Amino acid sequence: MAKYPLEPFRIKVIETIGHTDRNERKQVLKDAGYNIFNVPSEKVYVDLLTDSGTGAMSAWQWAGLQQGDESYANCKNWIHLESVVKDITGLKYIIPTHQGRVAENLLFSTIVEEGSLVLNNNHFDTTRANVLANKGVPLDLVVDEGKSPSLDHPFKGNMNIEKLEEAIKEYGRENIPIIMLTITNNSGGGQPVSMENIQNIRKIADKYDIPFFFDACRFAENAYFIKIREEKYKNSSIKEIVNEMFSYVDGCTMSAKKDGLVNIGGFLALNDRKLADKIKEKLILIEGFLTYGGLAGRDLEAMARGLQEALNEDYLEYRIGQTKYLGDLLDEAGIPVLKPIGGHGVFIDAKTFMEHIPQKFFPGQALVTAMYFEAGIRSVEIGSFMFATKDPKTGKIVYPPMDLVRLALPRRMYTKAHLEYVSDSIIEIHKNRQQYCGLRILDSEESSLRHFFARLELVK
Ligand code: F0G
Repeated sequence: MAKYPLEPFRIKVIETIGHTDRNERKQVLKDAGYNIFNVPSEKVYVDLLTDSGTGAMSAWQWAGLQQGDESYANCKNWIHLESVVKDITGLKYIIPTHQGRVAENLLFSTIVEEGSLVLNNNHFDTTRANVLANKGVPLDLVVDEGKSPSLDHPFKGNMNIEKLEEAIKEYGRENIPIIMLTITNNSGGGQPVSMENIQNIRKIADKYDIPFFFDACRFAENAYFIKIREEKYKNSSIKEIVNEMFSYVDGCTMSAKKDGLVNIGGFLALNDRKLADKIKEKLILIEGFLTYGGLAGRDLEAMARGLQEALNEDYLEYRIGQTKYLGDLLDEAGIPVLKPIGGHGVFIDAKTFMEHIPQKFFPGQALVTAMYFEAGIRSVEIGSFMFATKDPKTGKIVYPPMDLVRLALPRRMYTKAHLEYVSDSIIEIHKNRQQYCGLRILDSEESSLRHFFARLELVK
């Protein structure tokens, strides 16, 4: 039986959300071109589009906003944030950005050249797009277990170490400016990476002298999984685990909109002084001065406090337990969910759920639109609509191994009743799944970011 975790907080401020009816939502979907990103948030009841920047801040963070020091250079909130990030990561140079993708942009535009290969367990969409925008080639090397939705494995986010070494030998060390590791592995289902795997990647990085970075958005959630699933760490504190994880890397990109528990914020952190200096020049052109990076002093303070709160074990137990609760409710009702349940969201195997819809008509997007139409729930497709690409040599469409729909849970936001509403709605849709049809893209098909703006129509 699914078990709901105890919440280590009580609610002090609420935000009203309204209901819509099916007729209204039918029109909203039509107007949105069946792209859920075009749906006005006021027309959504439970918004599980993303866990990024959508969580609730604590009273301590809100109090921090009042402590904002809006001086242009070296405000006290920057000094606080820098010390917190150094304490967590042990990395030397900290470069603030307003969100994660700017950290990626600054890094990749400096180190990726035409034809460079970037290795990752799985690139997330903006990470992939940032590599491609610099004419690099993103290569995904997640372990085989990570590509099978129903297979149970404690660390499905791990990188395949043999494939990593093969890729380095095949393409040549000189063409590989960086190895990245996404913790937890978002596109692979929010699955964690083990400490052992991180250590093994470090060994390969040392052997071939290649810089090794984390895409660290969900580092605290990953650390919690290490604690509960990797025997050796069961008595370690989250802080100790996090410190050890970061001790193996040369740098990281970070979207603090996830485990920084803020609505906006991010950073790039690294040990290479020369690289940091090059990037700092770009930062001033793109984001702002070195000590605010496109953010207000108050935002820096909220981030410094959020990063500390994310290490709290009671919080993480609740956080991961809440996601598992929703996943277990669906699993117990026979809904095909990716297992084990991930950290920041429940991922539904849409290829199985909507078996009657071929990949070319986007079974995941069909489920996303059905959930909105039937229940006002917003989720996101992570599958063929997001990732299918044309092979430049053969002209054939290459489909991703999985067609998933992600129910991402904003942090500290929704209650048990909301989750039960979501699961009841999905169970109902599953009973009547044959009545839903696929979709066809009407415009922007060639764009690697089409899932954000392309319009679609129903294939009846
Ligand atoms: N890396 C990963 C693994 C991410 O999940 C994201 C964002 C980013 C980088 C970029 O960070 O949004 O601050 O620029 N993921 C969000 C999501 C958008 O919905 O999963 P950002």
